[in-house]
Amino acid sequence: MKTIFSGIQPSGTITLGNYIGALKQFVELQDDYNCFFCIVDQHAITVPQDPQTLRKNIRSLAALYIAVGIDPEKATLFIQSEVPAHAQAGWMMQCISYIGELERMTQFKDKSAGKEAVSASLLTYPPLMAADILLYQTDLVPVGEDQTQHMEITRDLAERFNKRFTEILTIPEISLPKVGARIMSLQEPTKKMSKSDPNKKAGISLLDEPNQIVKKIKSAVTDSEGIIRYDKDNKPGVSNLLSIYSILSGKPIAEIESMYVGKGYGDFKSDLAEVMVNYLQPIQERYYQLVESSELDEILDRGAEKANKVASKTLKKMENAMGLGRKRR
Ligand code: TYM
Repeated sequence: MKTIFSGIQPSGTITLGNYIGALKQFVELQDDYNCFFCIVDQHAITVPQDPQTLRKNIRSLAALYIAVGIDPEKATLFIQSEVPAHAQAGWMMQCISYIGELERMTQFKDKSAGKEAVSASLLTYPPLMAADILLYQTDLVPVGEDQTQHMEITRDLAERFNKRFTEILTIPEISLPKVGARIMSLQEPTKKMSKSDPNKKAGISLLDEPNQIVKKIKSAVTDSEGIIRYDKDNKPGVSNLLSIYSILSGKPIAEIESMYVGKGYGDFKSDLAEVMVNYLQPIQERYYQLVESSELDEILDRGAEKANKVASKTLKKMENAMGLGRKRR
């Protein structure tokens, strides 16, 4: 069986963008791959976090992974900071990264723009992400489109390591969803929906209550044409809503367009809100059963144990290849 690794930052409540771009793929892939899914809390602290909120977000994300359908019997679910090999291999990856290539990352440019104090870890974020992936000898990484550049540098670092030392690291491929690789903000549909957006109306959280969902969809930015049709360049707002509708209902976009011929945005939006509320309801139910349970701790304990075993094997190989410490078998 081939191996999958992916991670999500516990830096806010998970959005519909995270679900469609990442989590939904994870659920679909878990039957056919040996999967490792990670809560990347060390990546989250590259920007300031309130410690108590971070703890809460970690637990919340773990519960959401399971609530959307990740089966802990099939996939390994764990917290990054509970597997020390990530930080260790991350350091090794930093040592073969160049400042120039890290400064060219668009995420670094976006997150550091206009800031007076920028943490060093914001720059060295990608080598840690590379370590996450490479420690599991990963074949495939399911992510949304915004992670493409990070995946390219991960592949470059793996190739560089193999060439400079010994050929031990698997070069991973990226897997993007066919539809929904980039779900847009409801308020500025040319920008991606993000869990860290300060405008709370811009994104749908997986834990939003029905009345919040209805309000947010109602106030989603569209255009003045009044026709429900997919045209990403000229009608980014309506096209984004159509994509979301299609993914959640399982209906092709063309079928949804024909359902609304002669109807207005009001009807379209209220139906979409209903589809969304119904879709999220069972996820939320399962989430609230799990989030404070000891079952969740047991799942995370087992996950950390399994991940530690696999990751420490690769770490030893990497240390041997680089000449760190004493030679071990
Ligand atoms: P993060 O936490 O920002 O996002 C988690 C996943 O959700 C996807 N995503 C989206 N997909 C579609 N539309 C959107 N609007 C949208 N917003 C987010 C992201 O592409 C991602 O797949 N650097 C990563 C975390 C990470 C990681 C890793 C991922 C750390 N180590 C190793 C894969 C493998 C990040 O910040 O994701």
